[in-house]
Amino acid sequence: MKTRLTEMLGIQHPVVQGGMQWVGVAEMASAVSNAGGLGILTGLTQPTPEALGKEIDRCRQMTDKPFGVNLTILPTIKPVPYEEYAQAIVDSGIKIVETAGRNPEPFLPLFKGAGIKVIHKCTSIRHSLKAEKIGCDMVSVDGFECAGHPGEDDVTNLILLPLAARRLKIPFIASGGFGDGRGLAAALAMGADGINMGTRFMVTQEAPIHENVKRAMVEASELDTALIYRSLRNTARVFKNSIAEKVVEIESQPGQTDFEDIRPLVQGAKGRELFEDGDLDHGIWSAGMVVGLIDDIPSCKELIERIVADAEDIIQQRLVQIVSA
Ligand SMILES: Cc1cc2nc3c(=O)[nH]c(=O)nc-3n(C[C@H](O)[C@H](O)[C@H](O)COP(=O)(O)O)c2cc1C
Repeated sequence: MKTRLTEMLGIQHPVVQGGMQWVGVAEMASAVSNAGGLGILTGLTQPTPEALGKEIDRCRQMTDKPFGVNLTILPTIKPVPYEEYAQAIVDSGIKIVETAGRNPEPFLPLFKGAGIKVIHKCTSIRHSLKAEKIGCDMVSVDGFECAGHPGEDDVTNLILLPLAARRLKIPFIASGGFGDGRGLAAALAMGADGINMGTRFMVTQEAPIHENVKRAMVEASELDTALIYRSLRNTARVFKNSIAEKVVEIESQPGQTDFEDIRPLVQGAKGRELFEDGDLDHGIWSAGMVVGLIDDIPSCKELIERIVADAEDIIQQRLVQIVSA
């Protein structure tokens, strides 16, 4: 498959692995890139900008294919030196950056000056148009189905993607709810240049998380995600475990939710520990509705090849038969 995404980034398949806190380390990103997709290291998973520089070096030793770095600019419990992370990315010679969270405009002169292709991930058409206007090279359009932060508009990809196709001039990637060949074929049909996946890549052999987490996601249905932080207007879609249910319950109490009431439940460190030791009710973790479509734990290579082959089959067989009947 050849799209503006594969051409612009020099990758074989139109499949991207989005930034994932605590998951997007060198093992994950290099496995996706070696399989012909675009792997992305998650900048803030590294404790310092220096550590990110070292992780980038480690990833380079594991793949000679292109990979990127995600810079997520979101409200965090601890303040983050974003400028220093951005500088570490530039100093490491990275040529692809995925930004997310807030408007990436303050970082664009630095990134563009270093010849970096910037993919901004956002959850609405107005933010996609803004990203195009300020000079981003591409956008990832994250629908309401997605893991992590779907925004507050609650618009699914069936609407967002055709809108993006109508209004954007720059290429765009469909993100949120993708996990199989049907999804890839549909994304391409709706005008996208490829797909971005988070949840599906968590459930692969190379994802550096405990087997229990992967198995829980294989067993989960499309109903097993929860929306937390709705009352704080910072919505996040997470796996529906007892902690997520508790947070939703606290938020449903009358009156404004005090973040202090939920802080002990949602600490990032607990999510990281959960990924390490497999205790599924120790904290929260991001997961999308696509868990309902996941029923195995393949290697990244098997997964990407299957998705692309199935999509090609749908396009060349099923769709061709329909229009030529
Ligand atoms: C465990 C996990 C952690 C994530 N962390 C981040 C993050 O730190 N920054 C970010 O921009 N997106 C993050 N995401 C979102 C993904 O990059 C991607 O946009 C999303 O997973 C797409 O939806 P999907 O899960 O349905 O494929 C995360 C997703 C998951 C599953």
